[in-house]
Amino acid sequence: MSDAKRRVAEAAAELVEPGMRLGIGTGSTAAFFIEALGRRVTGGLEIPPAAATSRATEDAARKAGIPLVDMMGPNAPRELDLAVDGADEVDPELRLIKGGGASLLREKIVEALAARLVVIVDASKVVDRLGAFPLPVEIVPFGWASTAHLIRDRLGVEPKLRQVRGETLKTDNGNFIVDCAFGSIADPEAAAHTLSQIPGVVEHGLFLGMASEALVSDGHDVRRLAPA
Ligand code: A5P
Repeated sequence: MSDAKRRVAEAAAELVEPGMRLGIGTGSTAAFFIEALGRRVTGGLEIPPAAATSRATEDAARKAGIPLVDMMGPNAPRELDLAVDGADEVDPELRLIKGGGASLLREKIVEALAARLVVIVDASKVVDRLGAFPLPVEIVPFGWASTAHLIRDRLGVEPKLRQVRGETLKTDNGNFIVDCAFGSIADPEAAAHTLSQIPGVVEHGLFLGMASEALVSDGHDVRRLAPA
């Protein structure tokens, strides 16, 4: 799949024009985008400092020579021209599940600022219905088990606290992730609304009405999907 990821990432890097204010996603596909964008920047493309969606992306972007804005400071942008990011699932309406890499909160903050969000995925991520990929939900550590109980009671799923090498994963924001295996999400908008009403839920990985287009590749061609 890395050929497919590289192809869509390189196609997305070609969308960047001088002066564009960018948001840069996280994950293995976004990493190819960072490499391709870095080559353009070191080759002379001039862009203002971009917004990174994770510490990993900050590190990779710096190494690639891409200037970054301080998202912790007062000069964080109010709007962006273009954001580019991967996804874990994309449905025909370009609704997304994101957060497999635990960066969904920063991704949502940055990508909500973008006039255009281009999703870059290999063809395996395109689904008829969201939910086979367990939905990541970022929750605060205080009362995490109580929050997980509420998620289970209100949505009928079993949230699983994400562990990495035997340790509870902490996000870049110091929070936990619970992965919710729906199997299939019949009504993503209703699920998103229910999750957003639960105290302790910081953000969920449903990105609805945000993507402008998706670039999809099977490793050969790149096709462009617009919302159905
Ligand atoms: C990061 O938290 C995620 O939202 C990623 O964008 C998503 O998991 C896609 O990652 P890959 O490009 O590595 O498949």
